[in-house]
Amino acid sequence: MNDRENELTRRQMLQRTGAAAAAMMVPGALQAAQDEALRKKSPNDTIVIGVIGCGGMGAANMRSFMGYSDVEVAALCDVDESRIPGDFAEVEKKYGRKPAVYRDYRKMLERKDIDAIIVGSPDHWHALNLIHTVEAGKDSYCEKPISHNIVEAVAMMEAAKRHRRVVQVGTWQRSTKEFTDAIAYVRSGKLGKITHCRAWIADGTRIGKVKPTDPPKHLDYDFWIGPAKMVPYQSNKVHWNWRWVMNTGGGLTTDWGVHMMDIALLGMSKDQDLAMPTEVVAYGGQWAITDDDRDAPDCTEALLRFRNPDFLMTWSVLRDHPGKPGHCTEFVSADGKTLRVWRGGWTVLDADGKELPREESAAPPNHWRDFLDCVKSRRKPRADLASVAQTTIACHLVNAALYSGETVQWDAKRWDLVGKAGRNTMAYQRPYRKPWVLPVYRPNSSK
Ligand SMILES: NC(=O)c1ccc[n+]([C@@H]2O[C@H](COP(=O)([O-])OP(=O)(O)OC[C@H]3O[C@@H](n4cnc5c(N)ncnc54)[C@H](O)[C@@H]3O)[C@@H](O)[C@H]2O)c1
Repeated sequence: MNDRENELTRRQMLQRTGAAAAAMMVPGALQAAQDEALRKKSPNDTIVIGVIGCGGMGAANMRSFMGYSDVEVAALCDVDESRIPGDFAEVEKKYGRKPAVYRDYRKMLERKDIDAIIVGSPDHWHALNLIHTVEAGKDSYCEKPISHNIVEAVAMMEAAKRHRRVVQVGTWQRSTKEFTDAIAYVRSGKLGKITHCRAWIADGTRIGKVKPTDPPKHLDYDFWIGPAKMVPYQSNKVHWNWRWVMNTGGGLTTDWGVHMMDIALLGMSKDQDLAMPTEVVAYGGQWAITDDDRDAPDCTEALLRFRNPDFLMTWSVLRDHPGKPGHCTEFVSADGKTLRVWRGGWTVLDADGKELPREESAAPPNHWRDFLDCVKSRRKPRADLASVAQTTIACHLVNAALYSGETVQWDAKRWDLVGKAGRNTMAYQRPYRKPWVLPVYRPNSSK
């Protein structure tokens, strides 16, 4: 019997220990017993991994995990068979065995020997991939942004909680030294009272213009579109480029906002339970790149209002910031000091722009190793799904404000919009294309 089969589900545990005995357990004790039952037997146990979505970031994550001796990649799944051979060859070379190959991820999830799933599909698929994964009793390394809209994000978070699964989100910046050092500095209070955060990303991407055609034979386009709206196949709107198409992505506000706003929210919070905006306004549109098939805004300027603590955040998608990094998060203090952090560095400036001394600490654990350790210990990972759900929702609130033209309001306790503003946007909710259905998981937590 392998480790997975050794695990006790709640029902099995009730059967084995006797319903009466379990009924006498106080909820905390019952939960502790379940946690113990979910724990892998020993730190040396192998974690068997399956991949949903090959070729891109799914493959990059797979390679990171294959660097650890307690991992075995056993299965690959993609709806485009041309994306599989590269990953297949790497896995076969590493383990001397051919991985199983699937087109339908639900078949892969039926396998009892798989412990964890990499969700590396485009954003419009994350909710179904992840919810079905946790319902199948598997942990997940799920790519960011966690969802295509707010309702999906809340359902995903609740599903993972309900099924007691470990989910690490691919916001790996949370596990790199420049960002952890910068966050520690802000949280220490050395910068002073922070009243303003700024985050931005430069965007000049063109996906070109092509006419609709029949999809290639190696791609199951109907499956690729999945729950999104069916639209004619265009070769420039699928792999990688889907993020600049609002039917399948959220533009750079979700693609990079979830990285850069995440750092601002972490800096302004005590722990992974993040400060959330109460009101968001946004303006923008596709104004710079008009002769192109993309429909994601290339200009966005959003203002997010936070209370407790009181601060403002601006989020910008724009062509460039001359003399500044193309992506960045800044914290600005009431007395004019600025901390600026980007991939590769961070700096603290006084009100006159003079660099101030910084403090460094030990490098954080590797993001992928952290997930493996959490699968074994059942600890919360560094980018726990519930936490990155908050950042993802902050990004969707920007798009909800932009597309509705309204001030959207967020109720952090109810995990929902206040009133009607923003509800009719795709950033809040979308109709699922049949036969796909979003499983119902309602929030029951209070923040
Ligand atoms: N963390 C990071 O720094 C980072 C970097 C890049 C991408 N990403 C994220 O990774 C995810 C994938 O992005 P990408 O650029 O690799 O996309 P991609 O289009 O290159 O790859 C996605 C793959 O998933 C496959 N796919 C689509 N639907 C599927 C389904 N239902 N079942 C199985 N396979 C399916 C596609 O055919 C494709 O091969 C996105 O969520 C993206 O935001 C994260």
